[in-house]
Amino acid sequence: MKTLTTKLLTTVGLGTALLLGGCEMPPPESSQWGYRGTGMEGLYDPDRLQDVADNNVVPDAIPAVPAVGPKASDIYKNVQVLGDLSVGEFTRLMVAVTQWVSPEEGCNYCHVAGEGFEADTLYTKKVARVMIQMTQNANENWDQHVGGAGVTCYTCHRGKNVPEYVWNINPGHKVASGMKNQMQNVSSVAAGLSSLPVDPFTPYLLDDRNGRHAGTTALRDGGGVSMKESEWGYSLMMHFSDSLGVNCTYCHNSRAFFSWDESAPTRVRAWHGIRMVREMNNEYVEPTTDWLPPHRLGALGDAQKVNCETCHQGAYKPLLGANMIKDYPNLARLAAAEPEADLDEGMDMPESQGDVSADMTTGGDQ
Ligand code: HEC
Ligand code: HEC
Ligand code: HEC
Ligand code: HEC
Repeated sequence: MKTLTTKLLTTVGLGTALLLGGCEMPPPESSQWGYRGTGMEGLYDPDRLQDVADNNVVPDAIPAVPAVGPKASDIYKNVQVLGDLSVGEFTRLMVAVTQWVSPEEGCNYCHVAGEGFEADTLYTKKVARVMIQMTQNANENWDQHVGGAGVTCYTCHRGKNVPEYVWNINPGHKVASGMKNQMQNVSSVAAGLSSLPVDPFTPYLLDDRNGRHAGTTALRDGGGVSMKESEWGYSLMMHFSDSLGVNCTYCHNSRAFFSWDESAPTRVRAWHGIRMVREMNNEYVEPTTDWLPPHRLGALGDAQKVNCETCHQGAYKPLLGANMIKDYPNLARLAAAEPEADLDEGMDMPESQGDVSADMTTGGDQ
C-alpha cells in the first residue's frame, strides 16, 4: 500500500512538474533602443520572431535586362506610364508584377486573352497603372520614410490580388436604440484588440487630423483636445505598435510621450509615414473607387485603403528591411508622364512635403 501511494505521489509530482515545465516561456530575447534607465527596450518571444522571419521571405529577383533597344512607347500602343522603358525592361516588369500580384491568374488578371494588350478593358489594369505611379512616388518622394529598403508591389501584395491588410471607413456598430457605445468599448482589431475607438484610420490616415493630443502642462490649460480625440490617438498608437511588432518605447520615452527631443529617431520616420500613407490614400487609392466592382468596396462604398500594416505586416521594417527596389530600378522613380495621358487628372503631385521640421517642433496647432 505504501509503495503504491509513493508511486502515485511520484507520478502526480512528476506529471505536475512536466506540465508546469511546458508552460514556461522560452527565454525572451531583448533589444535595447534607448539610453539605460529609460526602459526603452523590447522583449521578444523567439517563436514569434521566427514567425515574422518566415512571413518575410523575399522572392528571387528576375535576372536584369539591359536598358537598350527600342522603347516601349515606340512599339506599344497604350503605355501611359512605362513608355520610357526598353521593351526588355518593360516585359521583365510585366512578369514581375504578375508574380507579385496575380501569380495564379497570370497576365490575364489585367489583360483579356485574345484582345490586344493595349486595351484597358479590365479594371485591374487601370488600378495597376495607378499603383505603378503610387509605388514610384513613394520611392522618389518619401525617402524620409522608405529610404533604404524602398517599396515594390510585393511589399504590400505578397502574391495576393489585394494586400492582406487593408481597411475601409468603419460605419460604426449597430447597437440597440438608446445604447450608444460611441464606437468603442468593444474589442477593436484596428487597435490591437483593445477597446479603443474602432476606426483611428479615417481621422489620421485619410483626413488631416493633428496627432498631437497630450497636454504639455500638469493641469489642463484649456488648450488641450477632447478625451475622445485622445482616445482616437491612442487607438492609432496601438495600431502602430501592432503593425510593427514593437511597443510604445520603440518610438517614445514614456516619461514624456510628447517630447520629440526624448523620442527615438523611429518616431520621426513614423511621422513621415503618417503623411505618406495619407497621400497614398487620397491621391492614388481613392481615385480608383469609380472603377472598382462592388465586392471591392466597403460598407460606405469606399475603396480598401493603406495603413501601416499594409506594408509592415508585423515587422519593424517591411520584409525585415530587405531591399528589393535595387533590382527593380524602374519602380524607383516617377516615370515622365506621356503628354497624351488622361490619367493625370485630379492627381497632381505635391512639389515638396513642406517644412515638416517646423511643424514637428512647434507641436502643430494643438
Ligand atoms: C497587375 C496587372 C498586370 C498584369 C498581371 C500584367 N500587366 Fe501588362 N500591363 C499592365 C498595365 C497597367 C499596362 C499599361 C502600362 C502603361 O500604361 O505604361 C500594361 C501594358 C502591357 C503591354 C503594352 C500593350 C500596349 O500595346 O500598350 C504589354 C505588351 C503587356 N502589358 C504584356 C503583359 C504580359 C505579357 C503580362 C504577363 C507576363 C502582363 N502584361 C501582365 C498591367 C498588367
Ligand atoms: C502601399 C501598398 C501597395 C503597393 C505598394 C501596391 N499596392 Fe496594389 N493595392 C493596394 C491596395 C490598398 C489595393 C486596394 C485598393 C484598390 O483596388 O484601389 C490594391 C489593389 C490593387 C489591384 C486591384 C486588385 C483587385 O483584384 O481588385 C491591382 C491590380 C494592384 N493593386 C496592382 C499593384 C501593382 C502592379 C503594384 C506595383 C506596381 C501595386 N499594386 C503596389 C496597395 C498597394
Ligand atoms: C512607430 C512609432 C510609434 C509607436 C510605436 C508609438 N507611437 Fe505614439 N506617436 C508617434 C508619432 C509619430 C506621434 C506624433 C503624431 C503626429 O504628430 O502626427 C505620436 C504621438 C503620440 C502621442 C501624442 C503626443 C503629443 O504630442 O500630443 C501620445 C500620447 C502617444 N503617441 C502615445 C503612444 C503610446 C501609448 C504608444 C504605445 C501604445 C505609442 N505612442 C506608440 C509614433 C509612435
Ligand atoms: C509603403 C509601405 C510602407 C507603409 C504604408 C508604412 N511603412 Fe514604415 N517603413 C517602410 C519601409 C520600406 C521602411 C524601411 C526603411 C529603411 O530601410 O530603413 C519603413 C520603416 C519604418 C520605421 C523605421 C524602423 C526602424 O527600425 O528604423 C518606422 C518606425 C515605420 N516604418 C513606421 C511606420 C508607420 C507608423 C506607418 C503607418 C503610419 C508606416 N510605417 C507605414 C514602408 C512602409
